[in-house]
Amino acid sequence: MAYEYVFDKSKCWYISACVKYESPECNASCIRYMEMDYLMQNSGIPRNRQYAVLLTPSKRDVQAFVTLKEIKDDILNFVKNGESVYIYSDNFGNGKTTWAIKLMQKYFDDVWAANGFRCRGIFIHVPTFLTKIKEGISRKDEDFETLKSRLMTVDLVIWDDIAATKLGDFDHANLLTYIDQRKLNQLSNIYTGNLHQDELQDALGNRLSSRVWNDSTPVKFVGADRRGVR
Ligand SMILES: Nc1ncnc2c1ncn2[C@@H]1O[C@H](COP(=O)(O)OP(=O)(O)OP(=O)(O)O)[C@@H](O)[C@H]1O
Ligand SMILES: [Mg+2]
Repeated sequence: MAYEYVFDKSKCWYISACVKYESPECNASCIRYMEMDYLMQNSGIPRNRQYAVLLTPSKRDVQAFVTLKEIKDDILNFVKNGESVYIYSDNFGNGKTTWAIKLMQKYFDDVWAANGFRCRGIFIHVPTFLTKIKEGISRKDEDFETLKSRLMTVDLVIWDDIAATKLGDFDHANLLTYIDQRKLNQLSNIYTGNLHQDELQDALGNRLSSRVWNDSTPVKFVGADRRGVR
């Protein structure tokens, strides 16, 4: 589906921060809403994950949270310098994807002004992406073609669940093409996964795992699964 601008003040990302919320100026011509909506909807971040969730670290994840907070506070330079981060854990549901989105959202927040409706970040759920490629969706789907070409040039990409399973040759070649190209162009990446260094090598092969591990800041979570826990 092509992007279509729809204004819905109840979905604004700045409800609690904007002094104009609920004022007459809170309307469809709000430039901040427009730019942010463009960035968000074109990023492919699922709609139900576009709004900040409060995360609290388990005791052993405090240092990991501090590291991510530092990256977040300096995300403009992180992206400008083409840096990458790999957020990983043996456990599921402890905030990896949520953090990745937080970092991207902060980047959007830093660049929306005068952005001029340009795509600045893309969220890729890697297993879904690879399945789509395999099914040859690209030839039938213009949006998917656009997405693939943007992957080579966009400032920041989240590769969600990149290292969750072992990749076949075809998948491996596909991923390597994009990630190598991004590295060459000094573009930023956020990876999430469930594998540590040795397993990564086994699952992704030497070249790809070195991209994900050696060219990134690895951040490990050890906290337990918090999904569904309130
Ligand atoms: N540290 C945390 N504090 C509060 N809630 C959390 C925390 N970690 C995870 N959650 C909750 O669990 C849900 C799932 O988190 P998320 O999708 O980020 O996990 P994940 O680490 O990416 O999991 P997976 O390994 O399955 O991909 C979040 O929506 C959030 O509500
Ligand atoms: Mg996840």
